[in-house]
Amino acid sequence: MEINMSAVLGPIVLLSLSVFLINSRLAILPRYFRATFTLVLILYLLPPRAIDTMSSPSASTLALAEAFKNRRSTHTLSDDITLPDARIQEIIHDAVKHSPSPFNYQGSRVVLLLKAEHHKFWDIAREVAQAKIPAQVFKERYEARINMFRAAYGTVLFFASGSKLKDLQTQYPLLVDHLPQWEEHMSGMLQYAVWNMLTSEGLGCNLQHYNPMVNTRVAEEWKLPADWSLKAQMVFGKPVGELREKTFEPVEGTRFFVHGV
Ligand SMILES: Cc1cc2nc3c(=O)[nH]c(=O)nc-3n(C[C@H](O)[C@H](O)[C@H](O)COP(=O)(O)O)c2cc1C
Repeated sequence: MEINMSAVLGPIVLLSLSVFLINSRLAILPRYFRATFTLVLILYLLPPRAIDTMSSPSASTLALAEAFKNRRSTHTLSDDITLPDARIQEIIHDAVKHSPSPFNYQGSRVVLLLKAEHHKFWDIAREVAQAKIPAQVFKERYEARINMFRAAYGTVLFFASGSKLKDLQTQYPLLVDHLPQWEEHMSGMLQYAVWNMLTSEGLGCNLQHYNPMVNTRVAEEWKLPADWSLKAQMVFGKPVGELREKTFEPVEGTRFFVHGV
């Protein structure tokens, strides 16, 4: 750990000085005056960085942590949003540009569907699900959910480029078997970035996986390259109704361990 010497020495010197002044027989001012003055002097001269690094997390960390805590799966959504389309595009542009990827190969691809195009996606999902899933299961598990997602404002389709992955595998033959898994990690990180940013703007989101059953229809409808593989769909809109209760398993000692503190 790096130690800031001025941060450590400054307060020690000032503290010693104050003790000296308070106890000194030469002092003319009353004792409480000297004590208050010295305290103010200490607080004034204490290097601000020392205060920052000693006790308080940075404002941006707090804002990030708050966003992570507030991110939830919100399934009941309406299309009645006030966030401009341009802002939604900007968020997704930033997330696509800045999210990490193995060796910075930048294999993520995204298609943003708004309003009528979003409806089109969920109409396709309904059609495909109805054709592929036994009628009873479709009725019980899919129909109402698909209608619920369709009622939202938009859907983000997350893909990864198969040809970019192949190029990377050619470049790193020793990692051939690992790279497909890292491609999934890359997409997950991007999905998480978008989820947090849209939530921070007041939207509700949920993550769906109608792939692979909708893959062919999606590629045809939006004229996408054949090597793009669909990873997930994020539905977003105005949150309506209550959030589902979320429970947490113990973290320390069960899911999180620290050594060397
Ligand atoms: C990799 C992954 C896949 C998920 N797949 C789905 C899904 O297909 N459908 C769905 O409704 N939620 C899906 N979820 C959302 C989880 O159910 C949800 O994150 C979890 O229950 C915790 O709730 P929270 O998101 O409100 O914190 C998925 C989440 C992750 C991380």
